[in-house]
Amino acid sequence: MSSSPSVDLQDVHDFLIDVAYRAGGMITSAKPVAAGSGMKKNSADLVTETDQAVEKMVSSSLKEKYPEFEFMGEETYKEGDKLSDAPTLKRRIKTFLKIQNLDSLTSPSLFPSHSIVDPIDGTTNFFHGHPYLCVSLGLAINQKPVLGVIYNPFTKTLYTGIKGQGAYLTDPCHNRARLPLRDPEPFRDLSHCLVAVEWGSDRDGNDFKVKTDTFAKLCASKEAGGAMVHGIRSLGSAELNMCGVAAGHLDLYWESGCWAWDVCAAWVIVEEAGGKVVGCHQGDWDPKIDQRRYMSVRAGQDQEKIVEEFWGCVQGKLEVGYDTVS
Ligand code: IPD
Ligand code: CA
Repeated sequence: MSSSPSVDLQDVHDFLIDVAYRAGGMITSAKPVAAGSGMKKNSADLVTETDQAVEKMVSSSLKEKYPEFEFMGEETYKEGDKLSDAPTLKRRIKTFLKIQNLDSLTSPSLFPSHSIVDPIDGTTNFFHGHPYLCVSLGLAINQKPVLGVIYNPFTKTLYTGIKGQGAYLTDPCHNRARLPLRDPEPFRDLSHCLVAVEWGSDRDGNDFKVKTDTFAKLCASKEAGGAMVHGIRSLGSAELNMCGVAAGHLDLYWESGCWAWDVCAAWVIVEEAGGKVVGCHQGDWDPKIDQRRYMSVRAGQDQEKIVEEFWGCVQGKLEVGYDTVS
């Protein structure tokens, strides 16, 4: 059952799949050409003409089909832009109806629906011809992710999820499998886990130290005071890492510094596959979509225990973003 009866999520889902395939064609046929200087914040934070062209295509397609959706995309984001609850025209209509005692006419469609888009998640990989990247198309209603479409055009794999309706992987032969791909084993402890993390583009300061110390703690032997995880993977796409967690071939993924467009679409896919999205620090069980600190964990018995064990390995306090708990 859909959680938002007044937005036809199935219709949006079908439309976004079509958009994702079109975007995929643009990505695979393009040569990575730097846009402007090719850098955003620094030399490890890249942007290409294809990122911009794909975002333009996605935003104009969405605007035409769903003019009522507000749009947030990585390449057109400006500092200070928020997924706010600020009264939009739709909100003002809702308030008006309430004042007039016409509440029954209000419906969830009057809450802001945001399409949250990353035209290429894994731009650094795109730049180097490394085929681990995706176009990521998410929808959030009232700041909660409700729909996700993620497509890797090089491997031709499509991940989709609709709130309340499950998550799926469609392979290059168009076989569609429900996620997770195998029966989730109960968690034991971190020493049985394959973990994804990302280095991010900030390579100094407090957060870089928290990250690298945490990576070392996760990897080190028990004798050296570590968690001795099976391995750490850093593959370069937040959304695909989360899809790996949804599928069950990654146990956990922890990252700070990424943005709503790096997680929105996969958030639904993780949850619909029985996984959880939490924050990076102890006790942050109910993160917000824009808080920039996230961990996702696959389905499985004792999920909360493994999350607690991971939080116990975090070496310090991250500065970027915020926690939902204080
Ligand atoms: C980045 C990737 C990367 C993650 C960064 C993201 P982009 O997105 O998801 O894995 O570490 O935090 O910003 O720049 O390739 O769209
Ligand atoms: Ca991107």
